[in-house]
Amino acid sequence: MSADSEAARLRPEQLAGGLLTVDLAALKANYRRLVAEGAGTPVAAVVKADAYGLGAERAAPALWDAGARIFFVALPDEALTLRRVLPAEAEVYVLGGLFGAGAERDYLAAGIRPVLNSLEEIARWAALAAAEGRALPAALHVDTGMSRLGLPTDELARLAAEPERLAGVEPAWLISHLACGDTPDHPLNREQLQAFRAARERLPRMKASLANSPGSFLGADFRFDLLRPGAALYGVNPTPGNPNPMAQVVRLQGRILQVRVIDPPMTVGYGAAFRAKRRTTIATVGLGYADGFLRSLSGQGRAWVSVAAGAGGEGTAVAVPLVGRVSMDLITLDVTDLPETPPVGGFVDLFGPGQQLDDLADAAGTIGYEILTSLGRRYRRVYEGA
Ligand SMILES: Cc1ncc(COP(=O)(O)O)c(C=O)c1O
Repeated sequence: MSADSEAARLRPEQLAGGLLTVDLAALKANYRRLVAEGAGTPVAAVVKADAYGLGAERAAPALWDAGARIFFVALPDEALTLRRVLPAEAEVYVLGGLFGAGAERDYLAAGIRPVLNSLEEIARWAALAAAEGRALPAALHVDTGMSRLGLPTDELARLAAEPERLAGVEPAWLISHLACGDTPDHPLNREQLQAFRAARERLPRMKASLANSPGSFLGADFRFDLLRPGAALYGVNPTPGNPNPMAQVVRLQGRILQVRVIDPPMTVGYGAAFRAKRRTTIATVGLGYADGFLRSLSGQGRAWVSVAAGAGGEGTAVAVPLVGRVSMDLITLDVTDLPETPPVGGFVDLFGPGQQLDDLADAAGTIGYEILTSLGRRYRRVYEGA
């Protein structure tokens, strides 16, 4: 029997060490939650980086179903993916602008819209509009304090003085991006707000959008005509330090491959980073840094194991510590204190219902954004609630 037909006999759940469940109903609920937070202000969906690792081909249509009509991505390639899976009426904007000489023709042909970040990009889009003999829609990004993308102050002044540069550009949205939205008291929030208002007054009348996920929770001043959240849609807390108003969308579980009992002074994993001080039961789980389970979680993270309750009772999830280093395909858990040893072939939770994504991110010394966008390709992915 060939290896291929052997493999074909494995059931999908037997093919991977990790199970990633994406709850599309929770994603849609988060979209609606943001609409409510904005008191009805239209809400775009930022679905760059493959919808923050969740899979844009599934997430974007779910967001469309929930009411999203405007989508932002970082790259033209990501925009092309959206064009395949979204209805033609969806507006798809590329935050990164026009990539390379002549790209504007390809954007037009593909039905994707640039976010124009400089006078040079405005000139190229305007030239294409002139050649086509019609106005072409685009968004315009002004920098108000992030110093990454968008018209810098001197270019904004030149555009304000020479608004004819926008001839043929149908500026659908004027946008800017907050640097410190997740720190509501940071003075830069108000400074950026003032700078954005001022820019808006100097330019021809355009609808405007400033707020990302945390910015959507900064109150009415920051809403303008469109919220532009990404992370909050996917369950990242947009109000750090306060309870998470968003539903958890992603659940990551790992399969227990082996369980062993070790005695002191035995060690676990690379670098002998964990040494048993007592008789210790170790469960080895089949995912690691190759799956985006960050190596900085070595000796830091926790997993949650379901423990059956007594007769008739509900099972509960109990936290167990990660011990030793995260390796490429494996992590090791100290399950000694559980009332019963978890079974080989069973699953533990790494984040999801028990442990918030942001807690895991804290343990890794990073942010939920990085955990999600690092999620690996090897997981068995299951989409629920479509
Ligand atoms: C210009 C712009 N708008 C909106 C977003 C969405 O931000 P968040 O994921 O914090 O909601 C991003 C993400 O980095 C962005 O670069």
